[in-house]
Amino acid sequence: MSGRGKSAKGAAKPTNDIIPANHPETYTTKKVIELFLECFKYILASEELPEMVQLVKGELFNRNYIEAFNSEDKRLAYVARWVPARALAYASLFASLDEVLQMFRDPVEERRVLCVGGGAASEVVGLASLFSGIKLKDGNSSSSLHVDVVDIADWTNIVHKVSLHVQQKWLYDGTSFSSSFVCGDVLQLSAEELHLAEQNLVTLLFTTNELFCEKRMETVRFLQLLSKNCRKGSYLLITESAGSYSHITVGLKQFPVQFLIDTILVGKPSEKNGPWEIVQLSESCWYRVDDREIDYPVKLENMRFFYRLYRKK
Ligand SMILES: C[S@@+](CC[C@H](N)C(=O)[O-])C[C@H]1O[C@@H](n2cnc3c(N)ncnc32)[C@H](O)[C@@H]1O
Repeated sequence: MSGRGKSAKGAAKPTNDIIPANHPETYTTKKVIELFLECFKYILASEELPEMVQLVKGELFNRNYIEAFNSEDKRLAYVARWVPARALAYASLFASLDEVLQMFRDPVEERRVLCVGGGAASEVVGLASLFSGIKLKDGNSSSSLHVDVVDIADWTNIVHKVSLHVQQKWLYDGTSFSSSFVCGDVLQLSAEELHLAEQNLVTLLFTTNELFCEKRMETVRFLQLLSKNCRKGSYLLITESAGSYSHITVGLKQFPVQFLIDTILVGKPSEKNGPWEIVQLSESCWYRVDDREIDYPVKLENMRFFYRLYRKK
């Protein structure tokens, strides 16, 4: 189950290059899949779903990210087709990151997490799965979780639907979990609008590449905004596809996007004098769906990605 990752100082440190299909600290795979079956039963039964999925797939492949999510039908197709596997993978990833797990295990903490580009709710379900899994074992804890979601496409209904399901069906006390959705371009929002000083964790999951493709300089400035306003000890988690799909061109050269991000956040490899330090990373991490546990009408795909968990110095 474990692989080799690297600590901030470059020394080998055990980490998970294969994360479990269902981490013991999270809610069960069956419950997570039930959420999608219940919340999205109409789209899952729709004859138009395969056509919509192909449309979204084409837009994503051609990096037409804004067009991929510019109608409710396309957004619902994305949720039905891609989000269940991502939610399962993210729950497992959050639970596999020691620092994130410890944060969720605290029985009294009021946590706040900002999910940039998280409108499709993979992160909301993933976070809720870990939060609810831990709560189930300690029903008396007073801890709470608020998830702020910011996305340029209007995912209001989807975030609301899954959050309501979590509150009503996953938790004894539904008020311990809440979410809010802001539809807007994260590159235009202020630190106050993003509540950066209050966040324990900021996630950018499969979103950084899109931001760099849309507006490179503004994305650099956004990362600098995080550096300036996130509080000491808070975390930033970035994932993106492992491999050449995540390369971006600077001048005549192509760089892996993580090289650019690390330079902005951590500093040059020889100096490491940036505002963040890497606490856990993987250049290639697999999440494999356990088909035996899943009865879902659409094929769910395995995922391979790189990740970085940064801590604000
Ligand atoms: C590939 S999707 C990933 C969705 C989700 N994080 C997941 O892993 O399932 C990227 C998301 O970023 C959002 N996005 C793209 N540009 C954005 C921007 N400038 N501001 C906010 N959200 C943005 C898209 O609308 C989309 O929901």
